[in-house]
Amino acid sequence: MSTPPQGKLALPKLAEMKRRDEKIVMVTAYDAPGARFAEDAGIDIVLVGDTAAMVVLGYDGTVPVTMDEMVFLTRTVARAARRPIVIGDMPFGSYQVSDEAAVENAIRFFKEAGADAVKLEGAGPSLSRVRAIVGAGIPVMGHVGLTPQSATMLGGFKTQGKTAEAARRLVDDAVALEEAGCFAVVLEAVPAPVAAEVTRRLTVPTIGIGAGPDCDGQVLVYHDLLGLTEGHLPRFVKRYASLSREIRDALESYADEVRSGTFPEEQHAYEMPSEELEEFERMSETPSVSKPSDQATKSSSSPMNAQLPAPRSDPPLRKTSSP
Ligand code: KIV
Repeated sequence: MSTPPQGKLALPKLAEMKRRDEKIVMVTAYDAPGARFAEDAGIDIVLVGDTAAMVVLGYDGTVPVTMDEMVFLTRTVARAARRPIVIGDMPFGSYQVSDEAAVENAIRFFKEAGADAVKLEGAGPSLSRVRAIVGAGIPVMGHVGLTPQSATMLGGFKTQGKTAEAARRLVDDAVALEEAGCFAVVLEAVPAPVAAEVTRRLTVPTIGIGAGPDCDGQVLVYHDLLGLTEGHLPRFVKRYASLSREIRDALESYADEVRSGTFPEEQHAYEMPSEELEEFERMSETPSVSKPSDQATKSSSSPMNAQLPAPRSDPPLRKTSSP
C-alpha cells in the first residue's frame, strides 16, 4: 500500500473513532467544488458514489454508469479533497465478472483517479472480490442492506432485513465483509435495531444511510441533503438547504435581466483610454455611438479576463438590484 498524502485522514483513524465513540461523517461528491465544500466542512470521508449516474448524469438508476465515467468524476474529487478519505464507488459490471477484473478496475480508481479506497456492494460473491482487492493493497469499504445495483433482485428499493431471518443473514454478511478485509461497511435502509447489532458485532465502523442513529457514522447523498434533488426522496434523507429553488430563482432573474437589458451594467464593462478610443473611432471612420458602458464587455468568468484590466476600481452604485 502507498503512503497517504500529507494531511490525509489515515484510514486506521476510522476504527479509532469508532472505539472513542466519535461519529464519522461521510457525504458523496462528484466534482471539485463539492469536494472543497466537504473538505471545508470537516467531512471525514467523501464517496464518489455511483449515485452519480442519477444525480449528475441523468440516468434513471445506478446501473448504466461506466468505469470511465466514475474514474473521471473520482479524479476531479480526489484533486480537491486533501484531508477527507476519497472512495471510488465501483460501478455495476466492474467487479461482478471475476476477481481479476475487480482488481484491475480497483487499480484504475487507485492509480488513475487518485482514490484512497474503493467501495463495492453485497456479500456472497463480493467476498472473494474484497479479498482480492485488499490483497492487491487497495482498501475496500463494503455495502449491505439495500444495494441499489441489485435492487431488481431485492424486489425494488425496499428496506432490507425486516424479518428475523433476513436480519440474521444481514448481520452474517456484514461480519463476513469485515473478515474479508473491509475497513468499514455501509448499511443502507436497514431497521435501526439490526444496524445497531451489526455495529456492536463489527470492530470496523458501520456507516449508516437509513439505518438509524447507532451506526458509527452517517452518509447522505450531496444532492439530497442540499435540496438539489427534485421529486421523491427516501424517508431517510434530511434536507439541510433548498439549493434547487435558489438556482432556479437566480437563473430566472439572470434571464429576465438579459432580456430587459438591465444586465450587464456599467460596473460589469471595461473602459479604454479616451485617446485610444478617439484613435480607434478615427480608424473605424465612423462617428462614435458608444457610451463608456458599451465598451468591451467580457464576463468576469471568461478566461480572457486574466489578461484584461480589472473592472473600474470605483464602481458606481447599481441601478438595479441583482438576484
Ligand atoms: O452511490 C452512493 O451514493 C452510495 C451511498 C448512497 C452510500 O452508495
